[in-house]
Amino acid sequence: MRTYEEVLEQIAGERRTWLVTGAAGFIGSNLLEKLLVLGQAVVGLDNFSTGSRDNLELVKGIVGEARWQNFHFIEGDIRDLAACRQACEGVELVLHQAALGSVPRSVADPIASHENNISGFLNLLVAARDAKVSRLVYASSSSVYGDDQQLPKVESRIGQQLSPYAVTKYVDELYAANFARTYDFPSIGLRYFNVFGPRQKPDGPYAAVIPAWIQAMLNKEPIYINGDGETARDFCYVDNAVQANLLAAMTEDPAAVNEIYNIALNSQMSLNMLFETLRALVGTHFPETLAIKAIYRDFRAGDMRFSRANIGKAHGLLGYHPVWPVQRGLKKTVEWYIAQSRAASDREQRIVAGEPVAAVPENAAL
Ligand SMILES: NC(=O)c1ccc[n+]([C@@H]2O[C@H](COP(=O)([O-])OP(=O)(O)OC[C@H]3O[C@@H](n4cnc5c(N)ncnc54)[C@H](O)[C@@H]3O)[C@@H](O)[C@H]2O)c1
Repeated sequence: MRTYEEVLEQIAGERRTWLVTGAAGFIGSNLLEKLLVLGQAVVGLDNFSTGSRDNLELVKGIVGEARWQNFHFIEGDIRDLAACRQACEGVELVLHQAALGSVPRSVADPIASHENNISGFLNLLVAARDAKVSRLVYASSSSVYGDDQQLPKVESRIGQQLSPYAVTKYVDELYAANFARTYDFPSIGLRYFNVFGPRQKPDGPYAAVIPAWIQAMLNKEPIYINGDGETARDFCYVDNAVQANLLAAMTEDPAAVNEIYNIALNSQMSLNMLFETLRALVGTHFPETLAIKAIYRDFRAGDMRFSRANIGKAHGLLGYHPVWPVQRGLKKTVEWYIAQSRAASDREQRIVAGEPVAAVPENAAL
């Protein structure tokens, strides 16, 4: 089996056209960055519901003007079949990330989650099938495991889903499997487990825990832990998820296609441990952070207690080998948010002083 480095070389050796849905979001923009750096042509589709133009600007700043010319962005909605058809035109590979994330969001508004995550997914499947795309790799979620207690989680065994969001991701898996059977349309599903890293949205009621806590620490706002803090997750740095997508898109093993894979590390960190780790990391730059105490409140509806992935299937069939341990990913992530926050306050001061301002550079020095 080829290594990830060999697959990267293979990708770089030939310009293919990829569609990244959700390209203005967190994982989508990291995929976009990697593909453009590898000299690929990329079509992006996003409606900016949770993603941002800033994320696209940041990628542009990293890849440079010349590679950015290989990116064609469509502001559009996967709930619109015509937009999906337009986006799939001339595309060889699809990395489908667009969806409304967040368990509590889906509990508050299950219809929106259904429309974006199920109807939108179905539109994209139909458009990709009709455009004769050679493969679609899509984002599923560890939430599919629901109330199954077994640890680590193995792909073949799931429980009852605990939230509308989890149901949407499970239905996506069913549709993908059905499209393989009914239309011979090939896809691969990736069950992400709590992915984190640069460009993940830190604010709003549905922000994920890692960016929300880093931002709260930087802004000296209170930090809440839902439950007793022993709830634990298999946190996965985004570069590992990027690796999984590229391996899935490029695998030449027929046995690896039309399958679903856990994407994480097979490690577990409790919320209490996460809080202490982030506080220590932020504290190396802002020592006053070390005095922060978390505030405990009720458990959150629809949350699993523990989650840890068996990644043997992705390792065995795709050659997935996550190289970013959680600690190193958290350090890089904290440094990124600190650099962004410094660059943003510098920009505000320039605006007040009436000086010209550029977009916040991604690689702003600490
Ligand atoms: N981040 C995680 O930990 C995690 C875990 C499990 C699964 N996932 C899944 O991974 C994918 C990417 O998640 P993310 O964390 O990058 O979230 P994100 O919110 O940052 O990215 C989603 C992107 O999709 C776009 N989008 C949403 N609905 C759309 C629509 N109807 N039409 C077009 N664009 C639309 C948003 O504007 C956003 O840019 C999602 O499918 C999510 O459910 C993420």
